[in-house]
Amino acid sequence: MGEVTGPSEVTRVQGPVRPARAGEPARLAVLVSGRGSNLQAILDACAGGELKGLARVEAVVSDNPEAPALARAKAAGVPRVEVLDRRSFPNRAAYDRALDALLAEIDPDLICLAGYMRLVAPATVARWRGRMLNIHPALLPAFPGLHAQRQAVEYGVRVSGCTVHLVDEGMDTGPILLQEAVPVYPDDTEESLSERILPVEHRLYPAAIRFVLTQPWRLVGRRITLCEEGVEGARGTGDTVRGAGEAFDGCK
Ligand code: GRF
Repeated sequence: MGEVTGPSEVTRVQGPVRPARAGEPARLAVLVSGRGSNLQAILDACAGGELKGLARVEAVVSDNPEAPALARAKAAGVPRVEVLDRRSFPNRAAYDRALDALLAEIDPDLICLAGYMRLVAPATVARWRGRMLNIHPALLPAFPGLHAQRQAVEYGVRVSGCTVHLVDEGMDTGPILLQEAVPVYPDDTEESLSERILPVEHRLYPAAIRFVLTQPWRLVGRRITLCEEGVEGARGTGDTVRGAGEAFDGCK
């Protein structure tokens, strides 16, 4: 597939996302705001799980100086642990510029939002399009935004789950990479549903990272579809690891 381009060039929306330093693990930057259990799952997967040898966490960036995720990053020996305290910026635009500059300086191969509680500014989204992922604790497009599990319980759905998607300019609106469902029971609370979804998130996020780093995927419309690499005009397998799409002819 095509080469990964630098952040200042036109970014592709296809995979596999290859490390800028060929032969080395992809360098991840993980953006956090809080607890950091998804960060931990990514760190563990890089250390000895399904991302071993494939990815390493180069940087963790938090907009919250009190985020417990920061201690997890330090304990794991992440080379760069950065705080952009949202309260220390005069306004939103100043914060957005600082984050954009920091990410450009870190220059990761892939950015993972993991409980990062802010919308990423459109200019930054554009720079990293196809190389920025987010995890959301609902089956999007249902229940975007805050308190997704509470929204699901209050709505009365019988099934919810989690979604890993590419980040676009909207709130949890980007193209979907992987989803996994969990049941919702009549006596569920926001807490009990969150507890059921969380271990699934911890499996799904590393799987999605592995997917974008290893699979010949391509964005067609809103759909992430697999191509058979090297086959001229190959039809997509339609298999996006979990969940089937239709085969298509767009992988020339
Ligand atoms: C997770 O449920 C994630 O899906 C959502 O925020 C929560 C973050 O949890 N975006 P943690 O900080 O990864 O433990």
